[in-house]
Amino acid sequence: MTHEIAVIPGDGIGQEVTPAAVEVLGALGIDFQFVEGEAGDAVEDATGAALPRETRAIAADADATLFGAAGETAADVILPLRRVVGSFANVRPAVSYPGLDAVQPGTDLVFIRENTEGVYKGIESEVADGVRTCTRVITESASGKIAEYGFEYARQNGYDDVTIAHKANVMRQTDGLFLDTAERVGEDRGIEYETALMDALAMHLVMHPEDYGVVICPNLAGDMLSDLAAGLVGGLGLLPSANVGEDNALFEPVHGSAPDIAGDGVANPAAMILSAAMLLDHLGYDEDADRVRTAVESTLEDGPKTPDLGGAATTEEVTAAVIEGL
Ligand code: NAI
Ligand code: MG
Repeated sequence: MTHEIAVIPGDGIGQEVTPAAVEVLGALGIDFQFVEGEAGDAVEDATGAALPRETRAIAADADATLFGAAGETAADVILPLRRVVGSFANVRPAVSYPGLDAVQPGTDLVFIRENTEGVYKGIESEVADGVRTCTRVITESASGKIAEYGFEYARQNGYDDVTIAHKANVMRQTDGLFLDTAERVGEDRGIEYETALMDALAMHLVMHPEDYGVVICPNLAGDMLSDLAAGLVGGLGLLPSANVGEDNALFEPVHGSAPDIAGDGVANPAAMILSAAMLLDHLGYDEDADRVRTAVESTLEDGPKTPDLGGAATTEEVTAAVIEGL
């Protein structure tokens, strides 16, 4: 059976790391059909639309999408794309790999971030001169759905520690509902969990990441805590993510378009290739996903390294080493 994969490289290093991931997928001998779409700053400059209608259609029709990164238009690209694939969960693993100079070598975290609401609902207004508001939306249905997904993810992937992050002591209504709903899901399933105030959690994650496994978060908290965890394991060049919907999904590195290194050919392709491994999991190619992860891990451990990891290798050299490792 052919799987159709939408490929949207976007801007900056998205144009460099996305072909690397496609090359790795192509080396597996699976019957994939890649359909490329445009999005981001460059296509907005050219056409006026950061996410052209054709690109939406390509993502909607595909079995899964690989997205690189967008630049200044990121919010106009990735937020609608997440809606196109109906994504309610953003899954962001942050793992320390052997052989890298990680701040915290014992890190094995997975952030399960609510992907549809919170302050990212985009309801902002200027209510008076010099006064602006942002409306934070939390619903029982979305909170329940992300908690179900998080607890199930922990069970399926063998994580014993589940933490529900919140700030219900201050945001009593919104995070009160998020926390109550998520706790009820944990209790219904008979799975042990702990709850943590998200600010204190940020500190504990830095000092003792080994005490945590799956962290279920409201939208903004998940965005920030996962970037923090990127710092613990060696930088944004290593963090993949999945935007999971009921019957479609989009996979992208956590990083952006990295204008400071774009065009130099030295972007670390690991985050994007690991995102492709998550795509393989999603489509049921579990063994191939493990092959790709193992090849990335051994390349990170004793293969060529890009400058973000202290090496001098190019994106192409690292990609070739991963493919060799397959
Ligand atoms: P960024 O993730 O692009 O870069 C942050 C730092 O990490 C930079 O120093 C960059 O060189 C480094 N870095 C990131 N990925 C790397 C990789 N694969 N290899 C080596 N080094 C890497 O975040 P920043 O600088 O905040 O944003 C740059 C642009 O990206 C902005 O226009 C922003 O809007 C956009 N952005 C897009 C996202 C998306 O498309 N999902 C997500 C985050 C930012
Ligand atoms: Mg972010």
